[in-house]
Amino acid sequence: MSNTTIKGSGPLFNPLQLGAISLDHRIVMAPLTRMRTVKDFIPNDLMVEYYSQRATKGGLQIAEATVVSETGHGYYGAPGIYTTEHVAGWKKVTGAVHAKGGYIFLQLFHAGRASHTEMQPGGAHPIGASAVPHNNVVYTPTGWKPASPNRALEISEIAGVIQDFYRASELAKQAGFDGVELHGANGYLIDQFLQDGTNKRTDSYGGSVENRVRFLLEVVNAMVSVWGGDRVGVRLSPSGSFGEMSDSDPERLFAHAAEQLNAFHLAYLHIVEPRVNGSTVEVEGLHPIASQQLRKIFHNRIISAGGFEIETANEAIENGDADLVAFGRHFIANPDLVKRYAEGLPLNAYDRSSFYGGDEHGYTDYPFYEQQ
Ligand code: FNR
Repeated sequence: MSNTTIKGSGPLFNPLQLGAISLDHRIVMAPLTRMRTVKDFIPNDLMVEYYSQRATKGGLQIAEATVVSETGHGYYGAPGIYTTEHVAGWKKVTGAVHAKGGYIFLQLFHAGRASHTEMQPGGAHPIGASAVPHNNVVYTPTGWKPASPNRALEISEIAGVIQDFYRASELAKQAGFDGVELHGANGYLIDQFLQDGTNKRTDSYGGSVENRVRFLLEVVNAMVSVWGGDRVGVRLSPSGSFGEMSDSDPERLFAHAAEQLNAFHLAYLHIVEPRVNGSTVEVEGLHPIASQQLRKIFHNRIISAGGFEIETANEAIENGDADLVAFGRHFIANPDLVKRYAEGLPLNAYDRSSFYGGDEHGYTDYPFYEQQ
C-alpha cells in the first residue's frame, strides 16, 4: 500500500489544506506516548517501524509527546528532542514516513509538575507553574510512582524554558519533521499555567485569564519564529481534569486562549474533548462540545480528538464541528486504520496492558487486515 492514495467515501476522505501541507484525508494519528526508547531517550528502529506501519500517503501523524529539555521528563522511556542523537533517531522516523508519502509533526512536551525527582537533573524537585501537590502517577526508572512535590518556576527562569521550546523546534526541523505541535493539554506544564487550579502565581503569569495564557502564547511565538505559523499546531484540553486539573471558568479561559492564538495564523488547533479523561472515555455519546465552542472563535483548522468512531468522526466534519479527527487507541491497535476505515473493515481490539513501555509486543505486532 506504499505511496498510493487510500480512497474512501465520506467527509473523512475529502482532501484538505492544513496550513502548509496538502492532505488526502482527514484521519490523523493522535500523539501517543508509548515509552519504547531504551537508551538516552533516543528514537530507535522499533519506533521507525511503528510510525512507518501507520503512515499513509497524504495522511498526518502527530508523533508522541517528546521532551524538550532535561527537566521536562515525566514518563521514563518517552523520547527527547534536545540532543544531536535525538535528532539522528527522529530523522530515521521522518524518513520512513516520508517514503510512504505521509506527513509527520512532532509534539513538543514538558511534563512540569507531573514528574519525579528520579527523573530530574541532580534529583531536584520538578518545576511547575505553582507548587500545587497532586497524586497522579508518573513513570520513573523504577516504575510507576506518585509525582514528587514540585516547586514553582521563578519568573527569572521562564525565558529559559521558552528557549528550550525554541531550540527543540529548531532540532525538530533538523530532524525532518513537517511541523510541530505544542502539547498544551492534559495537565502538563503549559496547561498548569493555563488553569487556575494549578496556577496560583501572583506575578504577570498568574491571576487574570490574560496572565495565565501569557506563557502559552510566548511558547507558541517561539515555535512560530522557527517554523512559521502554517507549520505549527497547538493541542488544548478544555475542561480536561486529567492530571488533577481544574479551572474556575474554563469556558472563558479557553475562549480567550483560542482567540489570542488567531494572531499566529496556525495550521490548526487540536482539541481534546472533555468526554475523555486522558485515555478513558468518561461520557459516552456526548457531542464534541469543546470543538463546537472553539470553532466559533478560532479561525483556522480544528482537529478534534477523544472517543471517536468512524461514524461520529464523519458526523463531526459534516456538522462543521471539526475539519479533521485524530484517533488514538484505534491507531495503536490498527496499523492500517485508514485502509480499514476506507473499506469498512472490522478493527483489531487494543490491549491496554501494552500501551506504555515494553517491546514490540502490543506495539508493532498488531496484524494488518490481510494478515488475519
Ligand atoms: C495518549 N494521549 C496523549 N495525548 C497527547 O497529547 N500526547 C501524548 O503523548 C499522549 N499519549 C497517549 C498515550 C496513550 C497510550 C493513550 C491511549 C493516549 C491521548 C490521545 O492523544 C487521545 O487524545 C486519547 O487517546 C483519546 O483519543 P481516542 O483514543 O479515544 O481516539
